[in-house]
Formats: sequence, C-alpha cells, structure tokens
Amino acid sequence: MIIAIDGPAGSGKSSIAKKIAKRLGFTYLDTGAMYRALTWKAMQTGVNLESEDALCKLMDKTSITFQGSGENARISVDGVDVAQEIRSPAVTNKVHHISGAAGVRRRMVTLQQKFASEGNVVAEGRDMGTVVFPGAEKKFFLDADIEERAKRRFGELQASGKKVSYEGVVEDMEIRDRRDSTRSNSPLTMSPDAIYIDTTKLTIEGLFNRIVREIKAALEN
Ligand code: DC
Repeated sequence: MIIAIDGPAGSGKSSIAKKIAKRLGFTYLDTGAMYRALTWKAMQTGVNLESEDALCKLMDKTSITFQGSGENARISVDGVDVAQEIRSPAVTNKVHHISGAAGVRRRMVTLQQKFASEGNVVAEGRDMGTVVFPGAEKKFFLDADIEERAKRRFGELQASGKKVSYEGVVEDMEIRDRRDSTRSNSPLTMSPDAIYIDTTKLTIEGLFNRIVREIKAALEN
C-alpha cells in the first residue's frame, strides 16, 4: 500500500507522515530529503548548479540511501549521514536548482518508485500523488495559511539553534512556494483524487486522527 502526502513547506507533511508510518509500520519516504541530499553533494563538490547535464551526471554517480525506519530514518549520501547538513538554510536556498532539473527529477522518480516497490510506504513530497505514485491507494494534500506555515518553520529553526527572523522565514517561504508551484517540471499541484486538508487550525493529533480514519476506511474497502 502506498500513502502519498503532498503539500507546500510547513503544511505539516513531515510530522504527520512520520507519525502515520510509525503507527502503521510502513516505511517513511522523505523525497524532499533526497533533493536536498543531491543539493548538498553538488555544493560540496562544486558542481555547477545551473547545469542540468552536470547535475544528472552527479546523480548517476551518487548513492542516496535511508538507514533505519520511521521517525529514526536517516539519509546518507555515498554512505555518509547527512541528515543534519541537508536542513541548513544554505541547502534550502539552493535546492530549487536540483528540483527544477527535469533529468534529475526523472532519476529521483525512478529511485523513489524503487524504494516503494519493496513494501508499504508513506511517501511525502510535492509530486507523490501526481507523478511518482499516481496509483497510490490514498492521497492527501495538506495546506495551511502562509503565516501559520512560517510560524511552524520559524519554531523548528529556532529549536535547532538557527538564528533567523520570522519576517525572513515568511519571505523565504513565499519564494519557495512560488518556485515550487510555477516550475515547469512537476510543479506542486493537487491530484484530483487527493483529500485536501487545511491544517491551519488543526493540532497534530487532530490531523493524525483524520488521516488514520481515512486510511482505515480505505483498508476496509
Ligand atoms: O519538503 P522539503 O522542504 O524538504 O523539500 C525540499 C525541496 O525539494 C522543496 O523546495 C521542493 C523540492 N521537492 C520537490 O520538488 N519534489 C518533491 N517530491 C519533494 C521536494
């Protein structure tokens, strides 16, 4: 079974996808982390982020793997754990070069489908329900007001010791939203058969209960 969860940054995807995966004993697939991982490697190795060809070549010689499962799953690049490094603002600001490159996306999609072929998966990203797993048994599209999404992201960054301003986070988020939803390759769009959930006023428990209810109903049918 595949559960696809899409939505913009800060919509609550990651927290809920991890929780659902843990509850169901499914594998958690964080596809944003994969785009971030290749961004990190490109920055480390000085690859030209504007060159799709160079990025595709880099992807072909890079091993992106996950160790552990559920909440504890950690991403590695060529065997090196980069779970922390890929969350840096530097990587966040550059990831659009990688996620906007059609050739890289094709390779990522193949890799993501391969991960999922091994068992039950909760996959989160921007194109899970539309491109990567169009046949997913259950699809969710999470959304929330930008102020709320920025508040959540600001809290996370502060908790991890990053010095940022709330206004700066709102601004970055607006830029990222625009890039994610207007790029020509697999822009963030809702699959027509996804369940739309506005998480602005929902607690994580409220969201969890709602999603589990929907999945249980799907399993019973
Ligand atoms: O979910 P995230 O913030 O970790 O994702 C990082 C970036 O990768 C984000 O700006 C959009 C992009 N992304 C994508 O284009 N497709 C996905 N399936 C997942 C993420």
